Amino acid sequence: MKKLGLYVHIPFCERKCNYCDFYSLVKTSEIEDRYIDALLFEIKSYSAKCKNYEVDSIFIGGGTPSYLKPENIKLIMQEINNTFLLSDDCEITIEANPNSIDKDKALQYKSCGINRISLGIQSLDDNILKAIGRLHNSDEAIEAIRAIREAGISNINADIMFGIPAQNVDNIINTLSRIIKEDVKHISFYSLKLEEGTPMFLMEEKGLINILDDDIEREMYYAGRECMENDGYAQYEISNFSKPNYECRHNIKYWTGGEYIGFGPFAHSCFEDKRYNNISDINLYCENFNNPERYRQLNEVLNKESKIFEYIMLGLRMNKGISINDFNNKFEINFLELYKNQMDKLLKNNLIILDKDTVKLSKKGMDISNYVFEEFL
Ligand SMILES: C[S@@+](CC[C@H](N)C(=O)[O-])C[C@H]1O[C@@H](n2cnc3c(N)ncnc32)[C@H](O)[C@@H]1O
Ligand code: SF4
Repeated sequence: MKKLGLYVHIPFCERKCNYCDFYSLVKTSEIEDRYIDALLFEIKSYSAKCKNYEVDSIFIGGGTPSYLKPENIKLIMQEINNTFLLSDDCEITIEANPNSIDKDKALQYKSCGINRISLGIQSLDDNILKAIGRLHNSDEAIEAIRAIREAGISNINADIMFGIPAQNVDNIINTLSRIIKEDVKHISFYSLKLEEGTPMFLMEEKGLINILDDDIEREMYYAGRECMENDGYAQYEISNFSKPNYECRHNIKYWTGGEYIGFGPFAHSCFEDKRYNNISDINLYCENFNNPERYRQLNEVLNKESKIFEYIMLGLRMNKGISINDFNNKFEINFLELYKNQMDKLLKNNLIILDKDTVKLSKKGMDISNYVFEEFL
């Protein structure tokens, strides 16, 4: 059977953080229940189309899924189980904020099959947490990790951000060292991206905050990477580090051209050679719950050319890089002949490494990965 990933978007947050432009709103109880009804309908609608697929990863993301009533998470999991065939070892992740998760909620998640929790910690410096608009402090973040573990879920990811104004290298190392002591299995280490329209973007425009220089931001990245690697976390993608065998299967699916279906407004799908997404508008979604053409838009029908570019771009994001043999067999084209000029230039500039059958980004290449991808485009 073919493998499939599922993404469920929960577009609610208790309050928006100053840096974030993910699609989410502050919710009322009425909109939550109306949304769940529409979501269950969309999940069920795939029943006939997915008979030949086995689901091996599910990611309930947001927004803040842990902000939903746990009964609603149960309903989502029940509908998924009724509609799809799940593999025995299916990785099932839910995103949570430290201030909306406790042992009891984690136990309820576990009882409906969830086996991985991704916690948005961002930093363990209380001043920074306040400045970026988080609703939790550092002690609450640590308590959340411990509560999840007490509930019997040890596969925990911590999202950590760097490059935030007022942060420095010591600050990053301090946060990472404390997180590592809690024995989380996975760390996503994100560089702050200034997103247009967010409060932080506006503050920067008004000169109220200064975005860090690139070299300081890179220094934080290198120091953070070294700190995690010294403690047994292997980098497997530009922003992702894990203990052995704890790589996130769901994200790897995105980076290796796997098929996935996204439910809810904002959610993206790559299914049967098409890329499409649901429009980021919860009212449109709920009002047209039984008429997906009204809230869904097609982005791309994947042809050979776009599949080749995606394969290279996504594969190079991963530390293990791409296998030339695999590429040649998959596309029936000789990689080294097709990209001779690009490879010569990138090798000369030490941006990629060619090692027998493998092509991967060098450490220098990781810093300017977009430039390398463009060369292949
Ligand atoms: C979709 S958010 C959901 C996580 C959860 N709601 C939370 O905040 O704890 C996933 C992660 O994306 C990262 N993120 C969001 N906006 C970002 C930005 N502008 N730059 C870098 N990372 C960002 C944060 O680390 C966040 O935890
Ligand atoms: S970072 Fe998380 S909690 Fe903050 S606004 Fe974004 S999705 Fe919501």
